[in-house]
Amino acid sequence: MNSYVNTAVGALLGTVFVLMSVSIASESIFHSENPEKEGFAIVAEEASAADAGGAAPAAAVPIAQLLGKADAKAGETVFKKCQACHDGTKGGPNKVGPNLFGVVDRPIASHEGFAYSSAMKDYSKGSSEKWTFDHLNHFLAAPKKYIAGTAMGFAGLQKDTDRANLILYLHTLADSPVPLPDPNAPDTATQ
Ligand code: HEC
Repeated sequence: MNSYVNTAVGALLGTVFVLMSVSIASESIFHSENPEKEGFAIVAEEASAADAGGAAPAAAVPIAQLLGKADAKAGETVFKKCQACHDGTKGGPNKVGPNLFGVVDRPIASHEGFAYSSAMKDYSKGSSEKWTFDHLNHFLAAPKKYIAGTAMGFAGLQKDTDRANLILYLHTLADSPVPLPDPNAPDTATQ
């Protein structure tokens, strides 16, 4: 009889001990949670980007000048970042984003069979605006800032050289590439 009581008390104490350990353990897990800080850092970054009011320092140098020093081969490597969503071959498919063969000087939001966002369609002014070197330079620096509401989920290429190399490469994806801009021409993109 006594041994039953002992066993019962022992079992009870054992249970209490386990419960306490679990609660201590889970509390320490809860408290060691650090994403809180990371989340804050991201918010702060977004806030400062918004503070800049669209006048990003990115894309400050005219693309015509940058292209003079650009390297299409290096641009082909940068294009790998785009290939998750874009095909660049002639007659190639639309993926998450439209096919980019011949995109330089192509009317904006005009590729057949692709459902563009209304932001991109508005920006194209009924496809009367084209993807000039300037537009590409500004768009690729910060897509969502240049065309607010675009469906293109890409943060942008901050480095002038990356963008210039890439744009020079994009320009080669055409049957007859358009002439490169005059390096002394002023930056004509409107924003
Ligand atoms: C996560 C997918 C994704 C990535 C990565 C991406 N894009 Fe896009 N891109 C899109 C989508 C989606 C659209 C259509 C946007 C819209 O309709 O607003 C688009 C549209 C475009 C357009 C407009 C084309 C047209 O026909 O008007 C260009 C130019 C473009 N992307 C270039 C690039 C380049 C260059 C890169 C790499 C630096 C890139 N994109 C990376 C998804 C992506």
